[in-house]
Amino acid sequence: MTRVDFPAAFLWGAATSAHQVEGGNVNSDWWDFEHRPGTAARESSGDAIDHYHRYADDFALLRSLGHNAHRLSVEWARTEPAPGEFSRAAIEHYRRVLTALADTGMTAFVTLHHFTLPRWFAAAGGWLAPDAVEVFARYCRYVAAELGDLMPYVCTINEPQMVALHGYLEGYHPPGITNPTLWKRAGRVLLEAHHGAVRAVRDASPHSQVGLAVNLPLLAPSRDDDACWSFHRLMRHEIVDLYLDGLTGPDRGDWLGVQYYRKQWVDPASPTFFADPPEGFRRTQMGWAVYPDGLRQVLHRAAETGLPLYVTENGIATEDDTERVDYLHTHIAAVAQALDEGVDVRGYLHWSAFDNFEWSEGYRPTFGLIAVDSGFTRIPKPSAHAFAAIAASGRLSSREPVQA
Ligand code: FCB
Repeated sequence: MTRVDFPAAFLWGAATSAHQVEGGNVNSDWWDFEHRPGTAARESSGDAIDHYHRYADDFALLRSLGHNAHRLSVEWARTEPAPGEFSRAAIEHYRRVLTALADTGMTAFVTLHHFTLPRWFAAAGGWLAPDAVEVFARYCRYVAAELGDLMPYVCTINEPQMVALHGYLEGYHPPGITNPTLWKRAGRVLLEAHHGAVRAVRDASPHSQVGLAVNLPLLAPSRDDDACWSFHRLMRHEIVDLYLDGLTGPDRGDWLGVQYYRKQWVDPASPTFFADPPEGFRRTQMGWAVYPDGLRQVLHRAAETGLPLYVTENGIATEDDTERVDYLHTHIAAVAQALDEGVDVRGYLHWSAFDNFEWSEGYRPTFGLIAVDSGFTRIPKPSAHAFAAIAASGRLSSREPVQA
């Protein structure tokens, strides 16, 4: 058994996003997508887990489970229900939410855009509208001015690459487009929107530390041939390098969020652009391949930006909670190894605090440390206690070496 001690200031917690937990997000493009026949969405987000009303109990529970940080998002569709028209009631709601969070002593990571858009923004062209960057910056400035005192860490955009890939190439998220040109364009707009949002947040809330959260899968070619390697280069550029190498200049932000789930094999011959994981890899409910050392590797790649890093998402969809305990140990061991190798990583936020609405997959995949029953009762799983032991002590006693 190896033992690893994390730095005393290391942040430990879990992440959620508004649409996935709050419920009743009816003014968003996602609600529309869920209710339109023929889209990829399996079911409605409905009431989600009613976090909108239960946030205070939820934070108290997470605090009791050893967390000292928490990531959540402010819902743009609620905050700005019509262009330039901000909802006083919504912002006061989020002030109560963030005050309750601060009262627990947990450090807040607040995402401003986590996949969902106001309907009106989507209808006007979404990220491809000519004024998308300015319109997003206006919203970010408003939230930062109103809530900046409660937002020590602000994340501008969650996973711009996945917004572009799922929404504009795979058609798996709104707006449901499958167009390589628009995919590339959307990604570049989102990167620009991050820079604009950094400026807006800094103007309105100079004390907030602003960052971007990127999804960094460990990408590999599915075969050793020229076509596959060249497709691998293209996908790696559009999913990874564009964003990491694009974090330059004064508006790049103060920190970088790394979100890692899996190793993925790109395949130009596959209609989904990716091949199934080869034999021998454990697969999750999502069909994703478990590969802990990938987290160590992508942290090294992210460290090339020179920014301080936080793991802002990492987790597994499984019905078998012993798999989640194992996933936690092996992935946190990978973070420890990266730290040991000199990577400046300062926190680990697990995805997710609760079983919740997993976008087009609906409620079937269960990513939570905490289950939620049909009466909205929260039921911590053994993995929540395993994580609490690590978070409360800052110490990992790992039974398994990190997979090479
Ligand atoms: C990430 C998303 C998050 C969740 C996890 C499983 O891409 O940011 O909302 O859906 O995947």
